[in-house]
Amino acid sequence: MNHIKGRITKLLVDYFGDDFRRITHALEVMKHAERIMEQTVGCDYELLIASTLLHDIGIKQSEELLGYNDGKSQEKYGPPVAEMLLASINLDPEKIRKVCEIIGNHHSPSRFKYVELKILKEADMIVNRIDAD
Ligand SMILES: [Fe+2]
Repeated sequence: MNHIKGRITKLLVDYFGDDFRRITHALEVMKHAERIMEQTVGCDYELLIASTLLHDIGIKQSEELLGYNDGKSQEKYGPPVAEMLLASINLDPEKIRKVCEIIGNHHSPSRFKYVELKILKEADMIVNRIDAD
C-alpha cells in the first residue's frame, strides 16, 4: 500500500483529536521501531508501522467506558478500534488480524512469535523510559 505511514498517521490523529500526548507517544514509538527494524531480519514494514502507530488506540475507549486505562484494558479495547480504522483504508485483512493480535498482546507475555510484536515492546519500553526521565 502506498504512503502507509501517512495514511495510518491520519487515522491516529483523527481518532485521538487534541490528545497530543498520545499522538506524540505513538510517533516516537514508531520512530524507535523503525530504527530497531534496520537490525532485524524478516520484519514486515506495514505490520510494524500499523502496530506501532495504533498500539495504544484502546486508551480512549477504556478511559471513556471505565474511567481509567491500564495494560489489560488497552489490550481489550484496542483491537476492535484498530480493526475498524485499518479496514477503512482497506489494509490487507490478514495484516489487520495480525495487528490486532499484536495490539492485544503488547502489555503481557507474548503469545505470538511475531518479530513486529517484539520490536513494538522494545520501542514502547524505550519511549516510556525516556518519558519517565
Ligand atoms: Fe505505548
